[in-house]
Amino acid sequence: MIKRPRRLRQNEVLRKMVRETRIDKSSLIYPMFVREGEGIREEIPSMIGQYRYSVDQMFYELEQVSDAGVNAVMLFGIPAHKDEKASQAYAEDGIIQRALKEAKRRFPDLYYITDVCLCEYTSHGHCGMLCGSSVENDSTLKVLAKTALSHVQAGADMVAPSDMMDGRVKAIRKTLDENNYVNTPIMSYAVKYASGFYAPFRDAADSAPAFGDRKSYQMDYHNSREGIKEVLLDEEEGADIIMVKPALAYLDIIARAKEATNLPIAAYSVSGEYAMIKAAAQKGWIDEAQIVCETAVAAYRAGAQSYLTYFAKELAGYMEEGRIG
Ligand code: PBG
Repeated sequence: MIKRPRRLRQNEVLRKMVRETRIDKSSLIYPMFVREGEGIREEIPSMIGQYRYSVDQMFYELEQVSDAGVNAVMLFGIPAHKDEKASQAYAEDGIIQRALKEAKRRFPDLYYITDVCLCEYTSHGHCGMLCGSSVENDSTLKVLAKTALSHVQAGADMVAPSDMMDGRVKAIRKTLDENNYVNTPIMSYAVKYASGFYAPFRDAADSAPAFGDRKSYQMDYHNSREGIKEVLLDEEEGADIIMVKPALAYLDIIARAKEATNLPIAAYSVSGEYAMIKAAAQKGWIDEAQIVCETAVAAYRAGAQSYLTYFAKELAGYMEEGRIG
C-alpha cells in the first residue's frame, strides 16, 4: 500500500501539524441579554446557564467574558416598555444605550456589537413597522437607521442589523456616514432563515410575534441561491461582515457564502442550538464539551471566520486547554 491516510493520524503532534482548520479565541463573539431593573440576574429557562442581566449585574458577566479571553460581545436589549413604534429601540436612555455607556466606561477594552432590530421593542413582536397585519419595509428602514445611530452614539463599536428588511444596510450606512461614523462597521445578518431554532431567544427577549410568523421577511430554508442573493445585495449596500444564521443546520450556506464574497463570514450558533446541546448534556446523552467543540469547528471548517455563540466562554476555555484550536 502506498497511500496510508492513517500515517498522519498517529499522534497529536502530527495531527495538529497538518490540521486544516485553526481557530482562536479572538474570533469569538458572546451574545448577552440586558434588561431594565436593578440587581437582576435571571436565568432564561430554555437557555440553562444564560441570564438576563440588569446593567449593574452585567458587569460581573463582562468581567468573566473578558477573563475567559473573549474580546467581543453582542448585546440584546429587553426594554421595560414595548409599543407599536418600538420607541425604546432608539431612546437616548433606552436599555441598550445605557448599558453601552456604562459597559464602555467599566470595560473599555471589550468590543461592543449591538443587534439592531425592532422585535424586542415592538408590542406586536414583529421586526418592523406594521401596516395592518403586514410588516412594512420602507417605513421600517428609517427606524432601523435611527436605532443604529443611537447605538453608535452611545458607544457601539459595530452594529448588526437582524431584521431582514430590504435595503436596511444601505439605510444604516447612509445615516452613520452622514453623522461622521464612517468607520463604524456593519455586520449584516445577511442570510437569516425563518428558523425554529430561535425559539429560546424569543423566550429570553419576550419577542415572539403576537400573530403570524416572520416568514415574510426571514428566508425560506428550502433556498440557498436566494441566500447568495442576500449576500451580494448586502455587500453592494456596504456591509462589512456577512453573517449566516443559524449555523449548525446551514453549513452549506456558510460554505457558499464564503465562495460568493470576499467579505468576512460570521456564523451565529443560535439559542436553539445552545438549548439542544444543554438539554441533551443534562440528560447525560452527549458530552457537552465534545459537542460544543465539534459543532463550533464545523462552522469554522465550513468557512466562518467569526463565531457567535452562547458557549463563547467555554469554547475559549477549550482552546486554552488545547482541546481544539
Ligand atoms: C432579532 C434577533 C433574533 C435572533 C437574533 N436577533 C430573533 C428572531 O429573529 O426571531 C435570534 C438569536 C438566537 O436565537 O440566538 N430579530
